[in-house]
Amino acid sequence: MAIQRMQFLSLSLLLNLLYSSNPLSLFLSMAAPQKDVFKLGFVGAGNLAESITRGVVRSAVLPAASIRTTHHRADRRSLFASFGCRILETNAQVVEDSDVVIISVKPQIVRQVLTELKPFFTKDKLIVSIAAGIKMKDIKDWSGKSRIIRVMPNTPSAVGLAASVFCTGETATKKDEERVSKLFGAIGKVWTADEKYFDAITGLSGSGPAYIYLAIEALADGGVAAGLTRDLALGLASQTVLGAAAMVNQTGKHPGQLKDEVTSPAGTTIAGIRELEKGAFRASLINAVVAATDRCRELSQS
Ligand SMILES: NC(=O)c1ccc[n+]([C@@H]2O[C@H](COP(=O)([O-])OP(=O)(O)OC[C@H]3O[C@@H](n4cnc5c(N)ncnc54)[C@H](OP(=O)(O)O)[C@@H]3O)[C@@H](O)[C@H]2O)c1
Repeated sequence: MAIQRMQFLSLSLLLNLLYSSNPLSLFLSMAAPQKDVFKLGFVGAGNLAESITRGVVRSAVLPAASIRTTHHRADRRSLFASFGCRILETNAQVVEDSDVVIISVKPQIVRQVLTELKPFFTKDKLIVSIAAGIKMKDIKDWSGKSRIIRVMPNTPSAVGLAASVFCTGETATKKDEERVSKLFGAIGKVWTADEKYFDAITGLSGSGPAYIYLAIEALADGGVAAGLTRDLALGLASQTVLGAAAMVNQTGKHPGQLKDEVTSPAGTTIAGIRELEKGAFRASLINAVVAATDRCRELSQS
């Protein structure tokens, strides 16, 4: 009798589940992809590690509890702890307790850090280096591993608008690439490129924000020269650059076409452009990117 009652109860439970639950949500929960939660470690809890952590946590790519780091300064430890990250004692513990390790120390100490951590980089771990100018071959030599992804982000990562490019080492997997795309997608846009282009990427998107800061400052100076207050001029200049970049990104139109659309015959804009051409504005920007690329190549060979 008791067994019959239990059978009846389990049958009614099954029927309840099948008929009373929303069939669509049942289907969705069965079809929903499992979220990829992995343990992320930062060796070097500096500015970029902070920007990535903020972006990753804000966009729910990973829960803060999946992120671990360490730092010799209490203020940095407290900051990362305030996000909900785990704070460990040593870099070695961070590596041991992570699936993906971001090497986010300054380029000049990457060699020392990787050499020290070499015994802890087991096969199951992905090394992600963001150190500017440090090649995958060196990372491989110093860490003894080829499961590497090298990323070149830029400083607008601090406001979630980074331009990041990555290249992949010999044994990095598709899943590794997906993880890196998600992590860096949380602080801006992400591209992939062969490592041979990394000097040019540094010359363009790495150094580029500084060229544009100069342009914003100069536009504001022009506004002041034409009688505007400094505050208004600076606000208009930076918002104009932001708006123009968004027009290129969001309309998909070539910048030349957008320029043609706002230059009426004998109008004000073409008068301004004529002056820019006299001052070799475009040639200056082209040369700036090439000079920074050459300098980056020089530095990475020295
Ligand atoms: N910031 C960007 O937007 C950007 C863009 C592209 C590439 N990168 C690259 O990203 C890396 C980090 O840049 P960042 O701007 O974040 O630099 P950062 O703020 O100086 O961060 C590096 C952090 O590492 C700490 N550190 C020093 N020695 C260490 C060690 N042995 N073990 C663990 N941590 C140590 C530093 O502490 P102390 O300062 O107290 O010594 C500092 O907090 C660099 O390699 C840079 O080339 C940054």
